[in-house]
Amino acid sequence: MRTIWSFGSASQVFFGQNASLRTGEMAQKHGLRKLFVISDPILDQAGIVKKVVDPLFSSGIDVAVHLGGEPEPSLAAILKSVEAARAFGPTGLVGLGGGSNMDLAKLTSKILAHGGHPRDYTGDDRLPGPIVPLICIPTTAGTGSEVSHADVYTDPDAGIKIGSLSPFLRPLVALVDPLLTLSCPPKVTADSGIDALTHAIEAFTAISNEQFPLPEPGRSLYQGKNPMGDLMAEKTIRLVGKHLAQAVEKPLSMADREGMALAATLGGLAFSNVGVGAVHALEYAIATVVHVSHGAGNGLLLPFVLSEFVGVRAAELGQIATWLGVDTTQMDQDMAAKKAIDAIVTLRKRIGIPDRLRELGFPREKTAEVAAKAVAVERIMRVTPRRLDLSDCIRILENAW
Ligand SMILES: NC(=O)c1ccc[n+]([C@@H]2O[C@H](COP(=O)([O-])OP(=O)(O)OC[C@H]3O[C@@H](n4cnc5c(N)ncnc54)[C@H](O)[C@@H]3O)[C@@H](O)[C@H]2O)c1
Ligand SMILES: [Zn+2]
Repeated sequence: MRTIWSFGSASQVFFGQNASLRTGEMAQKHGLRKLFVISDPILDQAGIVKKVVDPLFSSGIDVAVHLGGEPEPSLAAILKSVEAARAFGPTGLVGLGGGSNMDLAKLTSKILAHGGHPRDYTGDDRLPGPIVPLICIPTTAGTGSEVSHADVYTDPDAGIKIGSLSPFLRPLVALVDPLLTLSCPPKVTADSGIDALTHAIEAFTAISNEQFPLPEPGRSLYQGKNPMGDLMAEKTIRLVGKHLAQAVEKPLSMADREGMALAATLGGLAFSNVGVGAVHALEYAIATVVHVSHGAGNGLLLPFVLSEFVGVRAAELGQIATWLGVDTTQMDQDMAAKKAIDAIVTLRKRIGIPDRLRELGFPREKTAEVAAKAVAVERIMRVTPRRLDLSDCIRILENAW
């Protein structure tokens, strides 16, 4: 190997039932006596905030709870959260919720540490140093934000979802407690679960690390396909194949919730080291035109984008087919690759993810504009195994329409 790759994660990951009860112990261990907990009203009602926060009060930690989290957090939600956190003056933050609340906590923490505006840190590696120490506790099984170096928010002026990547955004501690996902309604389970699958598949089919970084601007926290990423991606795909549909259909099945919680964290490790590709870039652009969750948008687009890569990633797609439970022994490579796409389409249908953009009310005349926005997200588009240009992206959106 001529190139170097590295591997990052949250500094410490705890996985298992009731791992979330370790919040106080972890805060004490790291000297965090004043915690600002970011969550949302739905999780408050579900009793999840109480489960995590009550033990903190009794262990003598000073706690403020901010319930300003919302799906796909807006700039306004970030500014409010920063203001409330500043007034409290925490030594540590807790992001409790799905990817949205964990990202809101990352965004709040970095502004507390470095000042400025969320837009100042857009893109690759622009944070100058560590954020206020952050403990992330996922309540969905999907995004992997609890271990990732990414945060994402919705900026109405930018016309696209804004992401930033920094090694400093990886949480200090991730407490992955599958019990917290039991109350996820089927739609949240399905949408977040197919996001985990998308992370793993985009990582496993990414451009090789040997060809990464690409020409200037070569700076990137994504590194392309590498052996550690492959390991995480394979396990993620197998787990999603085995557990996602069941977790949607039988929400109280603990084995399936556990399988998906593990898939989400492993998928987060895969994508945040290797990278995500065109599915994510297109979803970021689409989400500002129509209202769709990140996961549902990705799940809708995934088969259409993968169809573009059968020529360059047939072997990988064939492997993915077997990991999703397809018997490919009698098939040639191209047939097996296509079966992977069929298996995703079948799974998507079974769990209720829309399969056409028109079902979301996406106006067909916007395809060229949206495709152009996606192509411009260079830090993501350069992760794809074959470079997609504007006409490729327009074709994908037309097919998906
Ligand atoms: N930072 C990263 O690495 C990363 C990766 C992927 C996606 N994301 C971002 O994460 C966001 C999506 O996150 P998500 O898919 O986890 O969904 P989410 O956080 O937006 O949550 C969706 C809804 O489900 C509710 N919910 C969450 N957990 C619940 C539970 N246990 N019981 C009942 N209701 C529950 C929430 O209150 C919310 O209303 C998007 O903004 C996306 O861009 C970030
Ligand atoms: Zn994602």
